[in-house]
Amino acid sequence: MNTVYVGMSADLIHTGHINIINEAAKLGDVIVGVLTDKAISSYKRLPYLTYEQRSIIVGSIKGVSKVIAQETLDYTSNLNKLKPDYVVHGDDWKEGVQAKTRQSVIDTISQWGGELVEIGYTPGISSTQLNASIKEIGTTPDIRLRRLRRLIDAKPIVRVLEAHTPLCGLIIEHAKVEKNNAVNEFDAMWSSSLTDSTSKGKPDIEAVDLTTRLQNINETFEVTTKPLIYDADTGGKPEHFALAVKSLERVGVSAVIIEDKIGLKKNSLFGNDVTQQQDTIEDFCHKIKVGKNAQVTDDFMVIARIESLILEMGMEDALNRAAAYIEAGADGIMIHSREKSPAEILEFCDKYSRFEKRVPLVAVPSSYNSITDAELSEAGVNVVIYANHMLRAAYPAMSKVAHSILEHGRSKECEDNCITIKEILDLIPGTR
Ligand code: SPV
Ligand code: MG
Repeated sequence: MNTVYVGMSADLIHTGHINIINEAAKLGDVIVGVLTDKAISSYKRLPYLTYEQRSIIVGSIKGVSKVIAQETLDYTSNLNKLKPDYVVHGDDWKEGVQAKTRQSVIDTISQWGGELVEIGYTPGISSTQLNASIKEIGTTPDIRLRRLRRLIDAKPIVRVLEAHTPLCGLIIEHAKVEKNNAVNEFDAMWSSSLTDSTSKGKPDIEAVDLTTRLQNINETFEVTTKPLIYDADTGGKPEHFALAVKSLERVGVSAVIIEDKIGLKKNSLFGNDVTQQQDTIEDFCHKIKVGKNAQVTDDFMVIARIESLILEMGMEDALNRAAAYIEAGADGIMIHSREKSPAEILEFCDKYSRFEKRVPLVAVPSSYNSITDAELSEAGVNVVIYANHMLRAAYPAMSKVAHSILEHGRSKECEDNCITIKEILDLIPGTR
């Protein structure tokens, strides 16, 4: 019996996939390599279904005799193991992201006389269409919540951008840039205390309460599907933090970050220009434990944010705290810095990478903005948060327009700084 290898993501199974499997089964014994989350997210968005779910589905399709994991976009290692007589694939990979993969399949199997069979496109159905429909249906709090951990497991770095309104959320949901044969997009949203406060004209001193911020998050969740990380400032008193964890988890927020400060909280980027006090390791560990005990699911994350570098307490203190917070049960560590240069963050990353017990590392390159997400990933950072840029971009644009109207006594001159009337009417589906 000949062996036939088929590689597929199998996230949104449709008749096109079934057709490929049927055709493959005519040639021999079909082994499907289901691409892992890591393999898929190396070139496109994380699949809706987990690897386990996708392999169960594929394994149940008539004509499939075995399912194995394909750990990379590249087929070579599985092909070398299996030495199949045929590889079957849709004929839609001759150009674009997968063209290189296709060539390497041909080169590899030709070593033992294997053959690539390409199946014509099944009309009337496409994953792109199905994907758009799924986005339209939305998501559930549960699925959204779990998605952050899956992204951290699957991606070299998870990209997060600040969203202080549902409109920001929509930009984060849809923005895409194609680069180096891959599609770059944001993976998640950041609910920033700074921009949530500023957009309400209030100082960033824990004055905008959880209920108010949650209302905004709920509205954002109504029109988006990506996960969200919540900036809970100091978390307040441990008893209050426990309640906050439950409220956040219930709406489907994936993670909360609390910073190790006490007293009247001031924004970290002031550093020691204002009075700021760091919490003791003991008390902050207690708060982490209280938060972890309060959560209901296994998936929600409590991330501990270290302010030692902000408050010039030194690298040793930062590292000691990281170890203690991990021991207390923190699911992630955020290390913050307000230096222009990334040097101290990179030093922290280097020392952190030698920890025996390590949890995902979060960085917020607001001041050290010359570093790229690829460089942060290389240094061992798992999550990068662009923490305030949507509001910082909107404010000067709005202010400019307001001044222009006053200056000219009309709005004609500011039109170039505005989205057109036609564009805004078409921006939100259903407006027309
Ligand atoms: C925020 O975005 O509110 C943060 C990050 O906490 S920072 O402003 O740098 O403190
Ligand atoms: Mg904040």
